[in-house]
Amino acid sequence: TLKEEGSVTYSSPSNIALVKYWGKRENQIPANPSISFTLAACVTKTCVHYKKKAQHSDEFSFDLLFEGEAKEEFKPKINTFLKRIVAYLPFLKDYHFIINTSNSFPHSSGIASSASGMSALALCFMEMEKTFLPNITTNDFNRKVSFLSRLGSGSACRSIEGPLVQWGETSSIKGSSNLYGIKYPYEVHEIFNNFHDTILLVDKGEKQVSSTVGHELMHGHPFATQRFDQAHTNLEKLGKVLADGNLIDFISIVESEALTLHAMMMTSNPYFILMKPNTLSIINEIWKFREESNTHVCFTLDAGANVHVLYPENEKDVVFPFIKEKLVPFCQNGQYICDRIGLGAKK
Ligand code: PMV
Repeated sequence: TLKEEGSVTYSSPSNIALVKYWGKRENQIPANPSISFTLAACVTKTCVHYKKKAQHSDEFSFDLLFEGEAKEEFKPKINTFLKRIVAYLPFLKDYHFIINTSNSFPHSSGIASSASGMSALALCFMEMEKTFLPNITTNDFNRKVSFLSRLGSGSACRSIEGPLVQWGETSSIKGSSNLYGIKYPYEVHEIFNNFHDTILLVDKGEKQVSSTVGHELMHGHPFATQRFDQAHTNLEKLGKVLADGNLIDFISIVESEALTLHAMMMTSNPYFILMKPNTLSIINEIWKFREESNTHVCFTLDAGANVHVLYPENEKDVVFPFIKEKLVPFCQNGQYICDRIGLGAKK
């Protein structure tokens, strides 16, 4: 059983989707399957200190700190998360928690911390739950953490393991589920080992559209059905690419997915443009350089203006100098993050 008092710490990474999750149903069930690279450098570290309450109460009780300082404005989000997961973690109402988190990436960098943050918190709670389940296997542990993380933020369910995680039922992937992410179950070509993701911080401002609102916009969207079908098809195509290492096909799937995500936002009601002029300049520079250099550098985007520049390890010596010289000047205050494919959360 769980001690009267103690603490647990976990670090959990962000992830970058290759086939994007955009649109959901009740209970954070994705409207389409997605797959992502787990990242290594962008992580949230969360420490949860727990102490048994003097008496059971029906309210959750917790303090929320960000790098040691109280963060009242995020408390409602955590409260919603706790409400969703208490059915699976009954001990939550018997304890008071002090949740202290920090991110490896700069404050308000426009890098979403929901995937890393929600998964890190889910991991801490699951570690406590584990004391009631002494025989739980690593597999079952990871699956339940992913399930819980999903209830915090959909994409967070893809942050527990690495290097590739798939989420959402689809016929081409055995064991795929709408309820949790699974480590990609097939052999992956060695070209994807150590794949780089240099994240260009184009706009560090507040997100114009929260992902909650974004997913909502897919309800009644004129292209929703086509988009959801396309995600299944792209995932199937990507499966072949991941096996044979064909980077030309990789690029066309990944870039098209990024642009489609933005196209969905541009064609919704209300509509949004989340790219900035510098986002487009960067994309054009990447396309020009790719042709000139015979490399396989490509981009992907989240629901914002920042650009993730993807390239294989064996092209790093050519691609990285190009990024520094031609792309970094488009970043806000010259800021970028050198990340790469990673293996998932750590205690
Ligand atoms: O996890 P959420 O609800 O913040 O959704 C994130 C969705 C995208 O980042 C835009 C795409 C994805 O699959 O990660």
